[in-house]
Amino acid sequence: MKGIILAGGLGTRLRPCTNVTNKHLLPVYDRPMIYYPIQCLINAGIKDIMIVTGGQFAGDFLKLLGNGKDFGLQHINYTYQEGEGGIAEALSLCEYFATGSPICVVLGDNIIQNNINQAVTDFKNNNSQGAMVLLKEVEDAHRFGVAELKNGIVTNIIEKPKNPPSKFAVTGFYLYDKMVFDYIKQCKRSERGELEITDVNNRYIKEGSLKYSFIDGWWTDAGTFPSLHRASNLVAETGANNL
Ligand code: G1P
Repeated sequence: MKGIILAGGLGTRLRPCTNVTNKHLLPVYDRPMIYYPIQCLINAGIKDIMIVTGGQFAGDFLKLLGNGKDFGLQHINYTYQEGEGGIAEALSLCEYFATGSPICVVLGDNIIQNNINQAVTDFKNNNSQGAMVLLKEVEDAHRFGVAELKNGIVTNIIEKPKNPPSKFAVTGFYLYDKMVFDYIKQCKRSERGELEITDVNNRYIKEGSLKYSFIDGWWTDAGTFPSLHRASNLVAETGANNL
């Protein structure tokens, strides 16, 4: 399995800080944000990693990470997203990297206390077929993609609903088979002009091939000032990803 970290975007919700750097290079407690998703993939045994970034500070990732020596890696792959086309568009740039392998996709601003190892194992045990999303029960589900569950099956995912159908946020950890790239090509741009990862996941639901798992321990995004603050506090209290 290959790993993909999506670390592009303008980080508008973190301006003015993101006027001078990429969101994923901002500190979460004592490390740059991007360290956490990298370590999370490595902990899950995934060492072939692509980082998708964009914007005017893309070169700083290379300065910070190089070939990943700090993580015991010999090489990190990088690719560049022009413009603001959304998470699914960023992912589509990795088709040539995946070369038909199953992939584990992590949004660069998602941080967890523990690991995703069980979900990765379960996906592999299912012949790495279809897709798997990782859910977390939250009190502010309207900020996220939200899963509608019926009889233990995810029947729909709604992106940032005003009235969430459940408390189960779809976190930024996704496992996909090679079909993901075909499904992205079939997606249409949303009202905000982006290719939405939620549309890709709903396509897997339509095919009857989306599974889910729950994240244990805490999970947070870090893309707004309150969540960035929360992430730093949580890491300071308990650590994250064995870091
Ligand atoms: C994105 C996804 C959303 C998901 C969230 C997790 O939202 O679109 O479905 O729940 O990440 O952090 P964003 O934070 O990019 O608005």
